[in-house]
Amino acid sequence: MSNANDRRMQGRVAFVTGGLRGIGLAIVERYVAEGASVVISDLDKPDSNIASEVIERLGDHASYIAANVTGEDDWKRASDMVRERHGKLHILVNNAGTDLTGPVESLSLPDWRRIMGINVDGVFLGTREFVPLLAESGKEVRGGSSIINISSIMGLVGYAETSAYNASKGAVRLFTKAIAIEFATKKMPIRANSIHPGFVVTPLMQAGFQRWVDKGFAERPEDLMETMAATTPVGRLADPSELAGAAFFLAGDDSSYMTGAEVVVDGGWTAQ
Ligand SMILES: NC(=O)c1ccc[n+]([C@@H]2O[C@H](COP(=O)([O-])OP(=O)(O)OC[C@H]3O[C@@H](n4cnc5c(N)ncnc54)[C@H](O)[C@@H]3O)[C@@H](O)[C@H]2O)c1
Repeated sequence: MSNANDRRMQGRVAFVTGGLRGIGLAIVERYVAEGASVVISDLDKPDSNIASEVIERLGDHASYIAANVTGEDDWKRASDMVRERHGKLHILVNNAGTDLTGPVESLSLPDWRRIMGINVDGVFLGTREFVPLLAESGKEVRGGSSIINISSIMGLVGYAETSAYNASKGAVRLFTKAIAIEFATKKMPIRANSIHPGFVVTPLMQAGFQRWVDKGFAERPEDLMETMAATTPVGRLADPSELAGAAFFLAGDDSSYMTGAEVVVDGGWTAQ
């Protein structure tokens, strides 16, 4: 935990989707450590073990709402809660997401739509719901409020048997650029940028490795981790906290002139 003098997010309010695990949780922890008030949303019930543990551990600076990013009514409940509790919002992190792999000819339309619903509709709905509050709150912040959309290296380049995920994350990348230009040209005090993680050790990635093991492509998840690490120039996978650094930078005054940008955090994977 940083000391009071370097809590650079004091007075800022953030909303982070999918904030109970993985990259989202690491972002929440960093923001709270920097003095921000953070509202976390995720699918788990408020009295679930994980939600209770996270809120208890993070103290008064964190609160939780169970909300599905695909649901318009859930977003309305979430914005009502933020308005009631804080009356402002400076940072929206659209992080919740999921994956889908398999040969394109084997993908079902319901599975395709599920991925698009979470990864793309979720980002659109969250942005639409919070734009008025972000615009109001952005007047008091250098560079304006900040929308941070978590895309992927898979939103930058194609990858075999990953077409639905590639398409969804590519959509997040360009949606982010479009709203960035829209807000800037209308002089609305909101910036929007995307983060493109490489391979990060999270429950999502571990579940993906397990599926490959179940299909017989490897004996142990650890073998797949080693293979992924070997294809990454720095020779290792990322810890979620290494993504939180980029999300901290994009949330704050140091990135006040950045909008419509893509921040790649991938250990050199796309530089090859
Ligand atoms: N882990 C990686 O290697 C990696 C790489 C690139 C991009 N990403 C992206 O980063 C983001 C976070 O991934 P992660 O690896 O931390 O995943 P994770 O599964 O570990 O955590 C994601 C969280 O989002 C929540 N969530 C899922 N669907 C939701 C929904 N419909 N509504 C609300 N919450 C929902 C989950 O419950 C979970 O707590 C995702 O958008 C993912 O696509 C991850």
